[in-house]
Amino acid sequence: MKGIILVGGRGTRLHPLTLSVNKHLLPVFNKPMVYYPLSILMLAGIREILIISTPQDLRLFRQLLGDGSHWGLKFCYMEQESPRGIAEALIIAQDFVEVDPVCLVLGDNIFFGTTLPARLRKAAKLQTGAIIFGYQVQDPERYAVVTFESTVENSARAITLEEKPQNPKSKYAVPGLYFYDNNSIKMAKELQPSARGELEITDLNKRYLDQGLLQVEVLGRGIAWLDAGTHESLLQAAHFIQTVEDRQGMMISCPEEIAYRMGYITRSQMSHLAEQMADNAYAAYLRSLD
Ligand code: DAU
Repeated sequence: MKGIILVGGRGTRLHPLTLSVNKHLLPVFNKPMVYYPLSILMLAGIREILIISTPQDLRLFRQLLGDGSHWGLKFCYMEQESPRGIAEALIIAQDFVEVDPVCLVLGDNIFFGTTLPARLRKAAKLQTGAIIFGYQVQDPERYAVVTFESTVENSARAITLEEKPQNPKSKYAVPGLYFYDNNSIKMAKELQPSARGELEITDLNKRYLDQGLLQVEVLGRGIAWLDAGTHESLLQAAHFIQTVEDRQGMMISCPEEIAYRMGYITRSQMSHLAEQMADNAYAAYLRSLD
């Protein structure tokens, strides 16, 4: 399976923070925001990753992430000319994805939880259909909302999907993490722009639902899903990461550590990465790992 991280868009909800800086480069405590969705792909075992951003910002992501080889990964970069919708990422990615299934993650989505890596690895085995997730929130109207036939832990049968409904039929929001078979590219090309002029990822998911090929997994209480797309949620995400990291002395979504633990790089390669950094807390953390 290949991976896509979408880090384009206008970031208007974060103005003036994002007037001159791409949202996904803003810090979430001690790391750039994009490290968090990148870590999700890494934990799923995905090593070939396409980064899609705006023509003006793509070079900043290249500067930050390089070709990925230092983390045992392979990064490619492609432009989204203007924010024409999340589903357009799959069309842009066609030559990169080739014949493989694909996982798309939005650059402002942060996930954390001990059961997550195993569930991600399982989802990354998908060959047919699509897997998305449902997560209970207090403000479902801000997201795509899914309703279930019966709500049971982990897997549930979805009945309806709606993008940002005014009157949500359930409290289950759909996070920005989507696993698709290769057919998704052809299906994305058949989508029509919505009233707001975007190729909606929810329209693609609805097509899978209509074909009986959509699996919606519930992420329960033990998993944190945060989005960092507003001033409040950005600060809350930073506080959350700081609180858990300070308490445990373990980092959340540290790509160097994940690369090491997944066996993509050796201990000495990780030490070398630490040496290249200034003598700060991040480097000290990498040096402390065994
Ligand atoms: O966070 C999960 C939600 O993400 C889902 O529940 C919704 O179904 C989905 O539409 C999306 O809603 P948002 O309102 O958060 O979408 P937003 O336009 O803010 O874009 C999400 C991310 O994708 C953001 O980091 C910017 C990037 N993006 C977005 C669009 C539309 C792009 O890079 N290009 C785009 O064309």
